[in-house]
Amino acid sequence: MTDDRAEARGEALRQAARRWGTPLYVTDVAAVEAAASELTTSFPDPWIRQYSLKANDVPALVGRIGGLGFGANVVSSGEWALARRAGIPNERTTLEGIGKTDADLRAAVRAAVAGDPLHWIAVESVDEAAALGHLAAAARLGHDHEPEPVGRAARAAAMDLHGHAHGHHEERRDRRHRVARMDVLLRLNPGVNPETQRGLAVGAPGSKFGLADDELAAAIEAGGGPGGPIRWRGIHLHVGSQLGAVDAWRDAVRRALALVALMHGSLPHFDTLDVGGGFPVSTDDDAPLPHPARFAAELPALLATIPADRRPRRLAIEPGRYLTARAGWLVGRVLHVRGTRGPGGGPLVVVDAGMTELMRPALYGARHRVVALTSLGRAVHAVASAAVLGSLAPTAVEGPVCESTDSLGVHDLPPLRRGDLVAIRDAGAYGASMSSRYNGRTRPAEVLLESDGTLVLARRRGTITSLG
Ligand SMILES: Cc1ncc(COP(=O)(O)O)c(C=O)c1O
Repeated sequence: MTDDRAEARGEALRQAARRWGTPLYVTDVAAVEAAASELTTSFPDPWIRQYSLKANDVPALVGRIGGLGFGANVVSSGEWALARRAGIPNERTTLEGIGKTDADLRAAVRAAVAGDPLHWIAVESVDEAAALGHLAAAARLGHDHEPEPVGRAARAAAMDLHGHAHGHHEERRDRRHRVARMDVLLRLNPGVNPETQRGLAVGAPGSKFGLADDELAAAIEAGGGPGGPIRWRGIHLHVGSQLGAVDAWRDAVRRALALVALMHGSLPHFDTLDVGGGFPVSTDDDAPLPHPARFAAELPALLATIPADRRPRRLAIEPGRYLTARAGWLVGRVLHVRGTRGPGGGPLVVVDAGMTELMRPALYGARHRVVALTSLGRAVHAVASAAVLGSLAPTAVEGPVCESTDSLGVHDLPPLRRGDLVAIRDAGAYGASMSSRYNGRTRPAEVLLESDGTLVLARRRGTITSLG
């Protein structure tokens, strides 16, 4: 990042706070585009790239990400509606998640019956497979059970990943003939030891997510079996978020590939492996974490261990954090300064942005760097003068909510007074989408900072009336 760009962004954040007030999320679209391009270079076509809306579900942003070669990965009818609002069609939307309700499943079945199916649905348990199978059978969903002709299957397998193009061809054919079908993946709990904090290690043994490998056959049976209303299409995996190394991911993908190879024998359409998200974001405070390309580089050797005709023909990723985390800034305003209540008798400030807007520090101890946008009412420039740097003091930054865990930690900051602006960095993922109304707080406004410097309101601030 050049000094000029950092300077321009600081000014944009101050301007946005003047126009829309605080607390306020600002997302730098150029940073999202840069992240999307890194992911696309690491996982080029025919990889299927799905953006996980749970990280940041602002439709204007989701639409942009959609235009950069990503479909939508959603976990509820609510996120599905946001994806549609963003212009992402069902054929590019996948539904997963541990909390899908009957209404969510029914909506997916209805879409399939209408000839506009989701790209796929991932089921998490035997119970959920049974519920989906039951709804699908009641809706008289079916599929052609003919295995593909040997020559074509062999050719497709030889193409390895190039099967993606074939997949699209097949889907076009389905739409033409209105074959009402529903493709389903089985979410595997890989039982590995993800190199991340406990709260993000969803692929660890005993986590509530996914099926153990010895439950997969029971899930297929419960969902109607190989000849039932569901077309079993492959394995879905998510090892964890903010992965600090590739080892657990490699183990998990190896296990999943072996299962795809095994199950392909009895399920001719079982050709897909979705390896989930989890690509970590390095912040200035961390040691550098592995780049997405480092994960992608593991694939050729892993695929080489599987016979060519048993390799998945479709591979997918579903990142969230990597696309949006570094692009997001949460702008807050100083409410109080307590001169000597901070570390070592230094300052403590209470700001108007905290756990209700950005829950991550309170939820799992995440650290987000806080910088000052103004000091004693005057703009702080990104390239601070020696005089300002000399006056930085360790300052405790506290949120506005009645919980002692509502704290953003200690940061080196210039002198602050009531009304000054601060920005919380790397807040573009799992920030606004996790916001809560606790303490009667309204949803923060969200703004996009376009590449040409324009600021666009993407989501209005919640109103007191909407609190109920
Ligand atoms: C199943 C699944 N896929 C993808 C993601 C996105 O993960 P990340 O934001 O770490 O890329 C998550 C996050 O929790 C998830 O649970």
